[in-house]
Amino acid sequence: MRKHPFATRYTLFGRILQPRIMRYELRTKQRITMYRSHNCGELRLTDTDKEVTLAGWVQKSRDKGFMIWVDLRDRYGITQLIFDEARTDETIMQQARSLGREFVIQIKGTVIERESKNINIPTGEVEVLVNELMILNEAQLPPFTIEDETDGGEDLRMKYRYLDIRRNPVKNSLLFRHKVTQEVRNYLSNMDFCEVETPYLIKSTPEGARDFVVPSRMNPGQFYALPQSPQTFKQLLMVGGLDKYFQIVKCFRDEDLRADRQPEFTQIDCEMAFIEQEDILNVFEGLTRHLLKTTHDIDIAQFPRMTYDEAMQRYGNDKPDIRFGMEFGELNAVAQHKEFAVFNNAELVVGIAVPEAASYTRKQIDTLIDWVKRPQVGASGMVYCKCEVDGTFKSSVDKFYDQADLAKWAEVTGAKAGDLILVLSGPANKTRTQLSALRMELANRLGLRKPDEFAPLWVTDFPLLEWDEETGRYHAMHHPFTSPKKEDMHLLDTDPGKVRANAYDLVLNGNEIGGGSIRIHDKETQALMFKHLGFTLEQAQEQFGFLLNAFQYGAPPHGGLAFGLDRLVAILGGQETIRDFIAFPKNNAGRDVMIDAPAAIDNVQLNELSLALNIKG
Ligand code: AMO
Repeated sequence: MRKHPFATRYTLFGRILQPRIMRYELRTKQRITMYRSHNCGELRLTDTDKEVTLAGWVQKSRDKGFMIWVDLRDRYGITQLIFDEARTDETIMQQARSLGREFVIQIKGTVIERESKNINIPTGEVEVLVNELMILNEAQLPPFTIEDETDGGEDLRMKYRYLDIRRNPVKNSLLFRHKVTQEVRNYLSNMDFCEVETPYLIKSTPEGARDFVVPSRMNPGQFYALPQSPQTFKQLLMVGGLDKYFQIVKCFRDEDLRADRQPEFTQIDCEMAFIEQEDILNVFEGLTRHLLKTTHDIDIAQFPRMTYDEAMQRYGNDKPDIRFGMEFGELNAVAQHKEFAVFNNAELVVGIAVPEAASYTRKQIDTLIDWVKRPQVGASGMVYCKCEVDGTFKSSVDKFYDQADLAKWAEVTGAKAGDLILVLSGPANKTRTQLSALRMELANRLGLRKPDEFAPLWVTDFPLLEWDEETGRYHAMHHPFTSPKKEDMHLLDTDPGKVRANAYDLVLNGNEIGGGSIRIHDKETQALMFKHLGFTLEQAQEQFGFLLNAFQYGAPPHGGLAFGLDRLVAILGGQETIRDFIAFPKNNAGRDVMIDAPAAIDNVQLNELSLALNIKG
């Protein structure tokens, strides 16, 4: 077997192909390699009779004895190679027979028209009759098939992520991410935003999650924190007069993982000076619109806006998916003061109309009742009312409600004949959250969350503070640098939970893809906020002295926003799991199973970092 006799072949290749390659370079500006004249995705009928050089991986081969076909794959596609006893040298036939899946090869040959064409791939009308073959590298049999539909489970694919990346779904997700990122850079740069890198080894920034920390060898016993976001730095850049900043930046948060959360993720982090909330919403609505246009050719005129209170009331959720209806109908006025004690004793009775679900069987409804009673949702029960197609109503509480009562339920929830009304009751916030979970579950089951439909939404006027049961005090809902609404400032002392913030989230298809706020830019208000968040003057000075000091040197009014790039890309790509849009993600336990991290470090390293455990005995 001839294994890349590089020196001799190369001169030969060089002599024959170089002029051609140079011509290509001039034409396409992308022929930068001597290895191949074309990639595996570009040969067409018009290339017939051309002498070509291709390189790539063996996707599969079919050996019919006198004829061998090999699918050669690279990033750009698949080209069929043909080795024919009648036309191909016997040693090359033998070499071809030895090819295994994922071998890396280089071939030279002639483009010919295929006898049986494959209309499913762009190169399917041609094949390359091979007259030279070089095995650049052999490969072990991969642990799963490198096909769009693979037999590899999640763990296995993670362990061999480099093989997973060869598969179209993952590869295309990464290419899509590149496109989105490039569009973001272009858009913001054209608007005069300046990309600035901020440090990764910093002091803790309070964004609500735990920090990942890094011990400092030169400062024994002291730690850096990896940034949860570059929040304070971007504010300092505004004090520095940079006016418009952005950064596509890694952020690190030690929190429990979910499909839309990774411990290290990427933000499109932005900040602007001399702006008001309206300016920020306009700029980033423009960016999102630009991305929808360039990735999907979709035009969305103006994004709807909703206050936090309204979102909670209408959808029980601060990131509602508005691609479908099933809005909440509050039934207190029409369902209380009858004989049904459960509703009478509840703070909130609220329902949704499930479209065309009146035909659900008792068993189907019982399954839904069991679903809301699961500990993850936590409802104690659920009432239903079928709006029959003949205009009558049939409910699980017919004993307490007559047809006229139930007609009112239908009116409030917007139910039509043929719909099913589902009702929960209990403490207001909790019940809204439960019904929101049910609404989303039903939408998933009914296929109402269409991945190629995009419904962005601004949610504004978030509460400034939220009560934390665990610590028994208020926490900043967004972060401590968010400015309260002027008109609510007087409530800070009397009713802090009621104070609204100049904070906003950008929601896309039921996912929070971005969030931001107008910042406090004076020392007094910032100190007041720290006080309300339970910091003593000394603590505030120790943790954020640098920011408070900076505010004494002429901080401009400023504000900003950060998109979660991974989420944004995943949703634009029609998915909600961000993992496949990240080249090397962590699993649900926060592990990188490919490199096997995190891992223990040895005592020498621990000693250097002054972290050695003093183990006795
Ligand atoms: P926030 O904490 O809302 O704001 O984060 C901004 C956006 O980042 C994304 N995001 C995540 N994505 C993946 N995995 C995670 N663990 C994760 N955590 C957050 C979300 C979110 O909307 N400094 C402020 C921004 C500002 O005020 O300008 C901030 O970080 O899509």
